[in-house]
Amino acid sequence: MTKTKIGIIGGSGIYDIEGMTDAEWIGVETPWGPPSDQILTGSLDGLEMAFLPRHGRGHVFTPSTVPYRANIDALKRLGVTDVISISACGSFREQMAPGDFVIVDQFIDRTFAREKSFFGTGCVAHVSVAHPTCARLSTACLNAARQAGITVHDGGTYLAMEGPQFSTLAESRMYREHWGADVIGMTNMPEAKLAREAELCYASVAMVTDYDSWHPDHGEVDVTQIIATLMGNADNGRAMVRRLPALLAAERAPCPAGCDHALDHAILTAPDR
Ligand code: ADE
Repeated sequence: MTKTKIGIIGGSGIYDIEGMTDAEWIGVETPWGPPSDQILTGSLDGLEMAFLPRHGRGHVFTPSTVPYRANIDALKRLGVTDVISISACGSFREQMAPGDFVIVDQFIDRTFAREKSFFGTGCVAHVSVAHPTCARLSTACLNAARQAGITVHDGGTYLAMEGPQFSTLAESRMYREHWGADVIGMTNMPEAKLAREAELCYASVAMVTDYDSWHPDHGEVDVTQIIATLMGNADNGRAMVRRLPALLAAERAPCPAGCDHALDHAILTAPDR
């Protein structure tokens, strides 16, 4: 058994975690450069935690410039076993309303201007991301959100776009009507793929801020509207996190889905090269 250590990557609106003991912001170096910010380590009701603001305190990184590899590697170096991504998203479904949370279980990756792998120089590996999120960790997030009284949807497909501009109306309609996406955001990829390569369990909690641009009764999305909804969402995000320690064992059994052994059959390069 290993000790559970939860890494929280907080998105827009979430820049710290309340209630942590022995809390300390620490700098971590990685071969991929520095992560988005220092990492807040400590424990929450006996559960070890490491919190990283994805965009940096002060929101200095765009979705395209977030150092995704350094972020995942820094959490791994701190002994994190499970990563929970919290992020804002737009919704393609009437029933996934602003203020709701979605426990994402699939992705369509439309990003193109980001480094997406730890592999490729000197070592070739192909991990499976058929099931890109960890069911055990996602269930804990679902239950924590329910206990916090949040309207939460169990499962959803997240379309990851490059940004920074929002989608055109034609794109929004295409993603919703033809591609089957439920929500849209700019940050979960390549984060989820890199977490798998790092053999970390990964769950994505997407907080709905808007209906993107497809909805006939809602105008086009803008940042003012997103920020207004985010403020309420961020409090709910923190309330969900507060309930996690009661739902996650401090001593960790191996991942039933094998997220923590993703590289076992993935590396092609001969070991003696
Ligand atoms: N983040 C929050 N709302 C979004 C939207 N509509 N599109 C992309 N990213 C978002």
